Amino acid sequence: LPNWPGVIENYREFLSVSESTKIVTLKEGGTPLLPLLRIPDIIKAPISLYVKLEGQNPTGSFKDRGMTLAVTKALEKGAKALICASTGNTSASAAAYGVRAGLKVYVVIPEGNIAKGKLAQAVMHQSVVIQVQGLFDQALEVVRDVSKTHPVALVNSVNPDRIEGQQTVAFEICDVLGSAPTFHFLPVGNAGNITASWMGFKKYRDIGRIAALPKMVGVQAEGAAPIVLGHVVPNPRTIASAIRIGNPASWTGATNASVESGGEIIAASDEHILEAYRMLAREEGVFCEPASAASLAGVIAYARKGLFRQGDVVVCTLTGHGLKDPETALSVPYTHISVPPSREAVLEVLGF
Ligand code: F0G
Repeated sequence: LPNWPGVIENYREFLSVSESTKIVTLKEGGTPLLPLLRIPDIIKAPISLYVKLEGQNPTGSFKDRGMTLAVTKALEKGAKALICASTGNTSASAAAYGVRAGLKVYVVIPEGNIAKGKLAQAVMHQSVVIQVQGLFDQALEVVRDVSKTHPVALVNSVNPDRIEGQQTVAFEICDVLGSAPTFHFLPVGNAGNITASWMGFKKYRDIGRIAALPKMVGVQAEGAAPIVLGHVVPNPRTIASAIRIGNPASWTGATNASVESGGEIIAASDEHILEAYRMLAREEGVFCEPASAASLAGVIAYARKGLFRQGDVVVCTLTGHGLKDPETALSVPYTHISVPPSREAVLEVLGF
């Protein structure tokens, strides 16, 4: 969009900012809602399928929508420093918005367990990176505790400003489609995003911008599926490191969204997540990170079970960019062709 102003300016009337609030923005939001061309046929689903490309936000994930508001409000309240626990994307976003606001940023991450691109972002933006010898869930406990007693503003999605900002994804989807989709699929980790998206759809319904609400389907990774199992998972495991979370902070928000909307929270195996991840890249030219593809894995599972009706409009949130995690992308066998720098050698590979 020409002169896209960022999510706070664009959706000011729905967000708790005043005329005098100094807005911290990297012009996040306004991301494409892309129709998929081939996958509906491949999975034999009679649906219109769209992906919301959240990887096109300034730091490469949906977190920027909440971070712009959380950092704006923290600055307004006089914060001098920000802190978060993260599986990588929140830390990348906090680091960048912290720079923008002139605040010190501390990010607490599970050691050895975040994708390289995300770590690179936190490092480049000069945040203090604290690696804990433990899991995300433990890191979150520590930062919640520290922020209660010390002057550092917590910018995880337990901060309501994060959730409020992240609602804007639902506004954008409805603004483009002219109504809500029939189904909205998204990956679930700490469960802030499904909570926020559902809140956004309900707000648009309440003010009459949309008539019907979507069914919300949250997808957890099978080895990190506490909501599906109904209990905390002490040692979550999945290739999708962004959602390797055993005790989601917004657990209730996720169950409310699924129950109220007539949707559900389901689990996808790593194998199915990777199948969806590769299918998007191979068939649609869309490169997202593995956790993001959990949403499409959910759609594929629904199609296999025949749960869609003719004409359903289905949106998947693709939460983060594929370049965040080059290691998973390169973990498959791929053809490495090495030739001398000559016309003949290249033509030989081309088969001419
Ligand atoms: N997809 C990606 C790429 C994520 O980074 C996350 C969460 C999710 C999905 C799940 O969203 O937590 O709102 O249910 N990442 C957090 C982080 C935990 O620290 O970056 P959620």
